[in-house]
Amino acid sequence: TDYANILVEQRGAVTLVTLNRPQSLNALNSDVLADLSSAFGKYDKDDSQRCLVLTGSGEKAFAAGADIKQMADMAAADFFLQDFFAGWQTGVVATRKPWIAAVNGFALGGGCELAMMADFIYAADTAKFGQPEIKLGVAPGMGGSQRLTRAIGKAKAMEMCLTGRMMDAAEAERSGLVAKVVPLASLLEETLKTAELIASMPPMAAMVNKEMVNAAFETNLAQGILTERRLFQILTATEDKAEGMVAFIEKRPGVWKGR
Ligand code: HXC
Repeated sequence: TDYANILVEQRGAVTLVTLNRPQSLNALNSDVLADLSSAFGKYDKDDSQRCLVLTGSGEKAFAAGADIKQMADMAAADFFLQDFFAGWQTGVVATRKPWIAAVNGFALGGGCELAMMADFIYAADTAKFGQPEIKLGVAPGMGGSQRLTRAIGKAKAMEMCLTGRMMDAAEAERSGLVAKVVPLASLLEETLKTAELIASMPPMAAMVNKEMVNAAFETNLAQGILTERRLFQILTATEDKAEGMVAFIEKRPGVWKGR
């Protein structure tokens, strides 16, 4: 498929999406969002695709933020009337199937926020995370103040938002922002390997596991545990549950139907 701002490639059951505006360090404008929304929407609907990896082109940046050049001349009324940034929720966050961000360099502002929309982040040892919006006279607008705080806690999130400083990959892993740090040269290979593992799982179970973990951010404990139990009970009605348990007992790999 042809997009102006991203590259999309299917590798077996894994969709690889690469942000591809290296001249602006993969800054995120409305056209990038439109491309990503289309690619993520197609991924979600394509039964042959079971995990997605999002990364940035080049060795320098995952994404250096929302496109400052696009926003510089916009008035407050424009942001409000367009409900600017709302499309990230419907176009990217609403994806029901699993996806991983492979952060290969700067993930700043909207770039950090986009990475945090992923189900989890693998980071290159060269990655740098930050919410530097305060230095532009603004603040995070794509979920950073909320997702960063949930990921790393108030102390570090507040410090990062108020100073605009960058956090390196080691600190990001220590703080719980990223699942794993790997050398830049092997980032894509490592992330694709994990994506292939996820892609080999029963697909409905993958979607439900994702929904369950996300529910932990939306509910109190009692409601979350009830949600988990109900979703678990629904999964037991799938053909893949029957197959998975029989396959275990017969000591062979399961063959999934995806239903
Ligand atoms: C548009 C950007 C950009 C961005 C970099 N570029 N970030 N263009 N939007 N967010 C462009 C630069 O203008 C430059 O283009 C080219 O990419 C290379 O960047 P340099 O600055 O020359 O590279 P370097 O000196 O290595 O510095 C890298 C950097 C720096 C530290 C990542 O680019 C930087 O600080 N970028 C901005 C980071 C940021 O503030 N992000 C948050 C954005 S606000 P030219 O044409 O000059 O060569 C946001 C949401 C806020 O995300 C909501 C507001 C309403």
